[in-house]
Amino acid sequence: MKIIKVKNNQEAGIQAAQIILEKIHANPGCILGLATGSTPITTYQNLIKAYEHKQVSFKDVITFNLDEYKGLNPTNPQSYRFFMNNELFDHIDIKIENTHVPSGLHTQNPALYDQKIHKAGGIDLQLLGLGVNGHIGFNEPGTAFDSLTHVVDLDPSTIAVNARFFDSIDLVPTQAISMGLKTIMNAKQILLIATGANKAEAIAHLINGEITPNWPCSILQQHPNVVIIIDEAAGSLLK
Ligand code: F6R
Repeated sequence: MKIIKVKNNQEAGIQAAQIILEKIHANPGCILGLATGSTPITTYQNLIKAYEHKQVSFKDVITFNLDEYKGLNPTNPQSYRFFMNNELFDHIDIKIENTHVPSGLHTQNPALYDQKIHKAGGIDLQLLGLGVNGHIGFNEPGTAFDSLTHVVDLDPSTIAVNARFFDSIDLVPTQAISMGLKTIMNAKQILLIATGANKAEAIAHLINGEITPNWPCSILQQHPNVVIIIDEAAGSLLK
């Protein structure tokens, strides 16, 4: 596990974008796993900047997102498809048909998403944020380590944390479709970003804790190629 310490989320975005750009330069048709949420926004801003400065082209890049709220239409501003278009895809030269976000409407056969990833050649680099409760993707505490893409019941704590994106907590979907922990572990490389004091406990479990489904992020200790970018606040409980 390689740990990169930065001052804040702005710096994390610069470092993470650099790693992603190197991946694309080495393999312009690489397959990226992407995340939503507050954490990767600065990363996406730096990728857009690099594109605008003609330092990179995304025209052959393929992407697979981690998750989507169940029941939300892709045109719903709270959907993760909408987020990705808005925060990244609409501003770069990626082909929209090369971007994949699990469907929140057609969730009958979630493992088809894993087949699609496999058919494309597997994820070269998976970008991850980190839940306050240690979730990666929407794999909440208790999720089986061998899980593939599946429908999940969101933890009440996740619903409470994500209510900030909705007009009221009652509007937050209670279920989502998410890559499983095995799907994530199948990626060739993992790049996790965690910033802010509310991630410190999860970071301590991820890096030094027992490997247990109670802290889903702890499974990453078993992955051979993980880079973690943390700011001072997120690293504050590390010895
Ligand atoms: C997002 C995802 C989640 C978030 C996590 C952190 O696609 O799967 O695991 O990465 O909830 O969210 P933020 O970055 O908003 O703190």
